[in-house]
Amino acid sequence: MALSFEAINSSKANFNDIYSMEDPRGYFSVLGALDYMIPDIAAPIIRQVLAARTRQYDSDRAPLVLDVGCSYGINAAVHRFPVTFAVLRRRYTRREVARLSSAELLRFDRSYYASWPDVGIGKFIGLDPSAPAIAYAKKVGLIEAGITTNLEESDLTPADSRLLEHTDVVLSTGAVGYVTDKTYRRILGAVRRTPWIVSFVLRMFPYNSLTSVFAEHGLVTERLASAVFVQRRFRDIAEFDSTLQALKELGVQTDGAESDGLLRAELYLSRPATDAWAAPIDDIVTVCSGLNRPVGTRYVRVAEDEAEVALEQ
Ligand SMILES: C[S@@+](CC[C@H](N)C(=O)[O-])C[C@H]1O[C@@H](n2cnc3c(N)ncnc32)[C@H](O)[C@@H]1O
Repeated sequence: MALSFEAINSSKANFNDIYSMEDPRGYFSVLGALDYMIPDIAAPIIRQVLAARTRQYDSDRAPLVLDVGCSYGINAAVHRFPVTFAVLRRRYTRREVARLSSAELLRFDRSYYASWPDVGIGKFIGLDPSAPAIAYAKKVGLIEAGITTNLEESDLTPADSRLLEHTDVVLSTGAVGYVTDKTYRRILGAVRRTPWIVSFVLRMFPYNSLTSVFAEHGLVTERLASAVFVQRRFRDIAEFDSTLQALKELGVQTDGAESDGLLRAELYLSRPATDAWAAPIDDIVTVCSGLNRPVGTRYVRVAEDEAEVALEQ
């Protein structure tokens, strides 16, 4: 019998404290130390999925993305602006930044994000029961609006439902496990047009309990079979041992994967059947290995004046 998400979560490290601080410094410090990287690893894939949706719907506006378990607006930051989780981690673990009060940091961060051009790949709304994280993400301008109702436990409020009405894409990184089919059932009940759902899911969380709910709403789910995505390191030997045990019970082969010390996630994409038939996942997603490696500065010689322009990756 499959383990419940609750049972699997009991083997996973608990980070609840850093999810509900006034600002993201604790989040970046603790998860950064564990080489948490899934927002960066997922970013090129998510970009391809959002672009495919825009093409398929011949849309002239950026999709409205609901980021489930958005925390401090990390995915919105990575997708709207030319920053990465790694870049933000460096910012938040700077000595100078460590000295600031939360109010001061918020003021600087609002200016920081306002100073970048918005790449315009999507508009973001966030769902996270952490009221401080949602408040931060909103105040610094990363998300347009946020929902703090815990949809595992309660129904959407009328105001929440209105916010979700026009959702085009439901995204999650690092959140399935905390959220289950209960949350998605409520989201799908509130949206007007069936959205695309793109999820990066740790391999110990059986996703079929969610995909069967999606199917009730006419969504077909595909898994990208050709790639897995590193999420982070294990926190300690206890988490390592219990995760490997949970994966073994699910019949998941961990040799050369989690057994090397890095948690792995898989990509699932759920879409209305006609969209999935028109462009299967393998046609719209290409994994370019090495894209996320820190390659440093890229130099481009500009012929006209013989000047050299350095472009940061
Ligand atoms: C590992 S963090 C991932 C954050 C972000 N998506 C990222 O990848 O950087 C997990 C997030 O899930 C949130 N979470 C926990 N329970 C949740 C629930 N019932 N509904 C939505 N989000 C939840 C936590 O507050 C936390 O912000």
